[in-house]
Amino acid sequence: MSKLDNYLEQWEEKIRETVGKEKILLATSGGVDSSVCAALLSKAVPGQLVCVFVDHGFMRQDEGDEIEAIFSNKPVEFIRVNAEERFLAKLVGITDPEAKRKIIGEEFIHVFEDEAKKLGKIPFLAQGTIYPDIVESGGEHGAVVKSHHNVGGLPDVLDFTGIVEPLSGLYKPEVRELGRLLGLPPSLVDRQPFPGPGLAIRVMGEITKSKLEVLRKADSIVRQELDQLTDKPHQYFAVLTDTYSVGVKGDVRTYDPVVAVRAVNTADFMVCDYTPLPHQVLRRISERITEEVNGASRVVYDITSKPPGTIEWE
Ligand code: XMP
Repeated sequence: MSKLDNYLEQWEEKIRETVGKEKILLATSGGVDSSVCAALLSKAVPGQLVCVFVDHGFMRQDEGDEIEAIFSNKPVEFIRVNAEERFLAKLVGITDPEAKRKIIGEEFIHVFEDEAKKLGKIPFLAQGTIYPDIVESGGEHGAVVKSHHNVGGLPDVLDFTGIVEPLSGLYKPEVRELGRLLGLPPSLVDRQPFPGPGLAIRVMGEITKSKLEVLRKADSIVRQELDQLTDKPHQYFAVLTDTYSVGVKGDVRTYDPVVAVRAVNTADFMVCDYTPLPHQVLRRISERITEEVNGASRVVYDITSKPPGTIEWE
């Protein structure tokens, strides 16, 4: 029996013991971690899992709908909360990255709490926290690098009998492997990590609906182009900077934000190298973004590794 088979068996046992016949609530983001967590829980205690998907409005192009579609085929109670307006209202005038993360984390708790109250008493809470989340939030060693919004918070605010974090001993590659073991499709298991605060930390400076729209279009082009590579980087996306530059579209002068493209190779997302993308690919991305996206003036490529850079820009 492999190490992961053992891990799975032990956690299934532990969950059954902890939860008994009660219901268990999971905040799902549609990412790898919370999806694997959902699959594990529905295997351990079938029919007892309630998934709440707080859609903060910072998802990528069509992502919210895709997540809803994936979960509509699963034997779990799935609730989507469209909370974009609530989040945007809290973020008016906010430009500091840590402030954004904190506000989003707190609002996430409030929305989740409101939803949990509507559901009546659910004694247990599950979280898809993985080992690096705990480390990077200063939970075990060292200082806070960034506040990961799936760590802490919920247990303090909501009155749960118990918290279950079945992925807390695993690194990302092991979480994916566990997902495969649980029969999840490659499209979900091999999905790139996506931060809890979503595109809000990929729009530099103040977040607005129109900036989010520009970023969604640019990001979708980056992903379409890089998805076609046989040797794909491990994580890739676009960032909307708050640096404006002059351009020309047709005969018209433009003055719009610069889009940055980020693509990295990494074993564990704790350190990374920037990916030396072929110039033809970069050229195609640049041409498409400047032609197809209104509100983006030019495209730059981020050649920073981690450390000293982080993968996300905020
Ligand atoms: P950084 O930017 O710290 O990112 O080098 C390392 C990896 O973590 C992802 N990331 C997050 N994931 N909540 C998450 O669940 C977050 O708040 C968060 N911030 C960054 C990032 O995309 C990268 O894969």
